[in-house]
Amino acid sequence: MYGGSLNPLAQELNDILEKGNSDFPGSLAAFGREIFFPKGILTQSAEAKAKAHRFNATILPVVTAGLTHGLSVAADMFIEPGDVIIMPDKLWGNYRLLFELRKGAKISTFPLYNDKGGFNIGEYKRALHEAKGSSKIVTLLNFPNNPTGFTPTFNEMKEIGSMLINIAETGQPVIVFCDDAYFGLFYEDDTASESIFSILADSHPKLTAVKLDGATKEDFVWGFRVGFITVSTRVNNGQEDKFFEAVEKKLGGTVRSNISNAPAPSQSVLLHAMGNNNFVNERNEKRQILKARAIEVKNVLSDPKYADYFTAYPFNSGYFMCVKLKQGLDAEKFRKELLEKEGTGVIAIGSSDIRIAFSSVEKEDIKDLFDAMHRCASNM
Ligand SMILES: Cc1ncc(COP(=O)(O)O)c(C=O)c1O
Repeated sequence: MYGGSLNPLAQELNDILEKGNSDFPGSLAAFGREIFFPKGILTQSAEAKAKAHRFNATILPVVTAGLTHGLSVAADMFIEPGDVIIMPDKLWGNYRLLFELRKGAKISTFPLYNDKGGFNIGEYKRALHEAKGSSKIVTLLNFPNNPTGFTPTFNEMKEIGSMLINIAETGQPVIVFCDDAYFGLFYEDDTASESIFSILADSHPKLTAVKLDGATKEDFVWGFRVGFITVSTRVNNGQEDKFFEAVEKKLGGTVRSNISNAPAPSQSVLLHAMGNNNFVNERNEKRQILKARAIEVKNVLSDPKYADYFTAYPFNSGYFMCVKLKQGLDAEKFRKELLEKEGTGVIAIGSSDIRIAFSSVEKEDIKDLFDAMHRCASNM
């Protein structure tokens, strides 16, 4: 707390939020309620940007420094120690550091796949219903998924969206984090090509959707650290502008309080590149390269010999795919052996899963990679 009581600027923002959606302030963590955008250089810059017609001698807008930072801002705003975050059991390991270690929250998982290899809507429903009655249900969906490269189909995505909205309709506050790091990298026709955020945005006052996305993977600029955080909920008619301005100020204050500002040169380079007529074509070319590799992985693995030692989890998108080792092979021992004997690096996840980044293997080398894995497994 600011000197023991809520800063008047935070109070002002909270009053605006309350007026726009009386459920929303209750979804915020204590930090989210207390944060405000200080009246200083940045506020004055923003005012100057809006009103200075002659010269604007100030600095740049606020964005997040990559998706990890966006997730961390979202966690500051909405997560309290002890909160439970429901997500599929195939997950990006950094969520544990981010939500569990940093924020003291607990990740609760459900099996990503059903027995047909589709999204396990039944288990998701069960996990969400178990959490009913808590002050708020928090869930995170990451499609295309890291580590599996899985995205639900159009129909599955609609079903997930309806289920979450239905829960909000029963009066239960719901917060959904949509980690869209690999958005746009879809390789099959029936894969949902819109984020779940597009279904959830503006759907219900008790549902808050938070989208994290950025250039890192979508635009293949890994070191740029350009990310975005977008928050949506249903707001009372006529209050939208003020409400979202207040949300923006709280997000801005959160960024201000940890990294001050996201780096400007990478934003400028990206903006400049996006203004070039070839940008979309060049990005599509890269996406096609990844698609061709994903298809090659499927072709190679259609040879039944590999199934003696490992089988692929269903995948249709993103940078990665995962296999499950068989015959009691231990993932970490296998990873080390593959590195030692075959000079091949993969990622071991849990006791039996291996993540393969086909994004970093040439199409022509994919068969050799899986043959090396097959050899290694049979020797073990
Ligand atoms: C699912 C997921 N979300 C977020 C990130 C972080 O992206 P950034 O490098 O922009 O912080 C990654 C990076 O590996 C990721 O796999």
